[in-house]
Amino acid sequence: MSRASGKVALVTGGASGIGRASTIEFAKQGFSIVVADIDEQGAEETCNSIQTEVCATAVPIKVNVSQEDDVKAFVETIRTRFGKEGSIVITSSTAGLQGMPEFAAYSCSKHALVGLMRSTAAEYAGRIPVNCINPATTDTPMVARFAQQWPDWQAETNASCPIGRIATAQEIAETAVWVATRATFMTGQTLVLDGGSMCS
Ligand SMILES: NC(=O)c1ccc[n+]([C@@H]2O[C@H](COP(=O)([O-])OP(=O)(O)OC[C@H]3O[C@@H](n4cnc5c(N)ncnc54)[C@H](O)[C@@H]3O)[C@@H](O)[C@H]2O)c1
Repeated sequence: MSRASGKVALVTGGASGIGRASTIEFAKQGFSIVVADIDEQGAEETCNSIQTEVCATAVPIKVNVSQEDDVKAFVETIRTRFGKEGSIVITSSTAGLQGMPEFAAYSCSKHALVGLMRSTAAEYAGRIPVNCINPATTDTPMVARFAQQWPDWQAETNASCPIGRIATAQEIAETAVWVATRATFMTGQTLVLDGGSMCS
């Protein structure tokens, strides 16, 4: 797909981690990128990386997705500047498909995303595919912050995964791009990326 195709990838949380890796992967596939994040400086840094590493167009937008007014204004900006989205990929988690002791709030929010995805997939079927990716632990700044408070965390987490390691953000990003661009008959699905963790 060439950049001249006019395709635009809008990545919320694009200033860091899985979101940032996804912006790079979409840019490699010829997309222009909108990096939407509450972290304005981080969004600008992501845009600079995209421009220097992939020579793609990238625009930062500050948005707090937990604030309804912010989201409404953001959606209106996107609609005016770029038109409609063609595919939606939501980042849930393995915690959106199974319980997570001591992380009930996180697990609730990730289950909610699966419900949102299934409902909107049914509502927009034939027009906009909507799917979830459900990663297990992935090497990102969010996880690095968590690991600092628990010295044995890295070794224990690696050991608990059948393939012996956590995911890279790039592995998750490549799958998100595949779902958005190639999975043309897939909608309403959860795609688990867990190194075999949920097998047993
Ligand atoms: N890293 C993992 O192990 C893992 C596993 C499964 C699912 N996930 C999910 O993947 C997503 C990304 O996680 P990550 O590990 O890349 O985290 P991260 O902390 O590296 O990046 C999260 C980004 O979201 C932005 N953000 C936070 N609150 C926001 C808000 N209210 N409005 C707009 N932007 C906001 C942050 O500024 C940051 O840039 C999260 O939904 C997380 O729950 C992560």
